[in-house]
This record gives sequence, structure tokens and C-alpha cells, in this order.
Amino acid sequence: MFSMPIVSIINYKGGVGKTTLTANLAAELAFRGKKVLAVDLDPQANLTFSFVSVDLWRNKFQDDKTIKFWFDAFIDHGAIKDLSSLIIRPPRVNDITTAPLDIICSHLGLINVDLELAVMLGGSSPRQHRNNFLKIYSLLANGLASFEDKYDLIIIDCPPNFNVVTKNALVASNYYMVPAKPDYLSTLGIEQLNRHVEELIRDYNKYAVEIDDNYNELSPKLLGIIFTMVFIRSGKPIFAQEQYIEQVKRTGLPIFDTLIRENKTAYADAPEYGVPVVIKGASGKTYIDVRSELEELADEFIRKVGL
Ligand SMILES: Nc1ncnc2c1ncn2[C@@H]1O[C@H](COP(=O)(O)OP(=O)(O)OP(=O)(O)O)[C@@H](O)[C@H]1O
Ligand SMILES: [Mg+2]
Repeated sequence: MFSMPIVSIINYKGGVGKTTLTANLAAELAFRGKKVLAVDLDPQANLTFSFVSVDLWRNKFQDDKTIKFWFDAFIDHGAIKDLSSLIIRPPRVNDITTAPLDIICSHLGLINVDLELAVMLGGSSPRQHRNNFLKIYSLLANGLASFEDKYDLIIIDCPPNFNVVTKNALVASNYYMVPAKPDYLSTLGIEQLNRHVEELIRDYNKYAVEIDDNYNELSPKLLGIIFTMVFIRSGKPIFAQEQYIEQVKRTGLPIFDTLIRENKTAYADAPEYGVPVVIKGASGKTYIDVRSELEELADEFIRKVGL
């Protein structure tokens, strides 16, 4: 649908590093001169608060500059408004990047939006259901369409679920990327997630061909699983984690070569400064290791999406 890459960072397992990777990739690419828009679709709003302070958000953005406000306009009036009025350019990170890094903020009330949209999906006849399905799942795709020439990349941080808003992200994306911890539950979750993504695409495309409106068929491509919070010893993951990584490799799903190591110090204090660790000037070996890994990830990401 789009020629510009739109990438969803998705995994319904919580706390696997989705938001951290979204913030760091967005910052690193803008640092390298790519115009980036990062969209926060998680009601927890962690991505939002990695770039803007809570006070600023409360005073200036909370009421009418969040993605919740935009979905609300649709729920209340059936209106698909211009998304560009929501765009924020967070100051601290933009002092460092060479190209703009813009964001669309989130809001705790997005939880209710998800519930409302789920209700609107129903329909009293199969035909109504199909029409609602296409309309509601393609809201974000339609909203982002006007950004076609404005950005080099749009990156979407998804919440840890597979509800209506998350599905909107996938429908809008031409790529998705799955952060995962190399442990038992995450490994199980990856295949399940992939099945659910395929189901969504299959249903959407089935309906899209039935109805000859402006619905294009989807084919979002899995860029890869990216392992996070890896414990590296003597240059490789510890044995237990290695086993899980091998297990995922056997599924044949694409996997990023880069591994993101566990480092509480480097990641924990990054958001407070409004500047992700990858472009933060902190010195010391721990930061240098973490930065070079994230830079390697950015290289691999750029190769995979052909930026
Ligand atoms: N490589 C890492 N090493 C150590 N801690 C990390 C790493 N990556 C992220 N963290 C920390 O782990 C926590 C969860 O990370 P993050 O918020 O990015 O996950 P998430 O998948 O977005 O979570 P959620 O599903 O709740 O949205 C955060 O406190 C973050 O600072
Ligand atoms: Mg998150």
C-alpha cells in the first residue's frame, strides 16, 4: 500500500523490550538523518513518556493531541480526522538528531477506545460484519496515508495484546518486528503470535477482495524476531537462552542476527532524560557495549527494510 516503510513492533507478551527498541531505533535513525514518526498505541504510554515529560504531556497534549482523541472522533462522529494535528516534536531528543523525530502520543483512555471499537465490530448480518471489519481495522492505515512523503519511516509501538488497536497497527504496516526474551513462555508465544497475525491477514484479505471498494490486500512482512535481554558470557548467550534461540531458529521464522543484551543500568535511566541510550553521550564500557549493539541493530534494520 505504502512505499514508505511502516513497521509495527509487536508482541503480546509484556515487558519484552518493545518500547525500548522502538524508542532506540527511532532515535538512531533520526540521528542518521532519516525523518521518523513514532506512534505510541499503548495505553501505558511508555513510549510517549520516553520522549516527553509527564508535566508537558498533561499540560499540552493530554486533551487533544493523543491518538485516543483521534479514535474518539471516529467513535463519536464517524470522522476520520487528519492525524497531522497530533504530531509532537519532542525537544530533548531533537536537539541531538539531525533529522526530525516526531511522535504521536498515547493516553491511558485508549483502553476504552479498544473496547468501544470491539463493540462496533459487531454486525447483525455477515455483510455488515464484513463492512465493519474492514472499516474499523483500517482506520489507522487511512490516517497514516497522508504521511506518505513526509517521513522515511513510521514505527509503531504496540501494546502487549492483540486487540483492535494492535490489529489496526498491523493493517497499517508493511513490516513487523517481534522482540522476544529467550525463555520458555516467549518461545511458545512467538508461534502463536505469528498464527494470529496470519489469521488477521487472511480474514482481512478475504473480505477486501469480496468488496470492491478501496481496500487493498495486505501482506505485512515479518522482519524478524529480535532477542532482547540476553545474558552474554564469553561472547555468546548463556546456555539456557541459547537453547531457546535455537528452538525458535528451527521454526524457520526470520531472526535478527543482532542480540540485545540485558543491561539494567543502561536501559533503566535512559527515559528520564528524554533521550534513548543509543544516542546518549554517556561514557563507560557498559554504555559503549549497549550503544554498539543498538547501532548494529539499526544497520540490520536498515538493510532489511531497504531504507
Ligand atoms: N535489554 C534490556 N536490558 C535490561 N532491561 C531492559 C532491556 N530492555 C528493556 N529493559 C527494561 O525492561 C522493562 C520493559 O521494557 P519495555 O518497556 O521496553 O518492554 P515492553 O515490551 O514495551 O513492555 P510492555 O509490554 O509493558 O509494553 C523496562 O523497565 C526497560 O527499561
Ligand atoms: Mg511497551
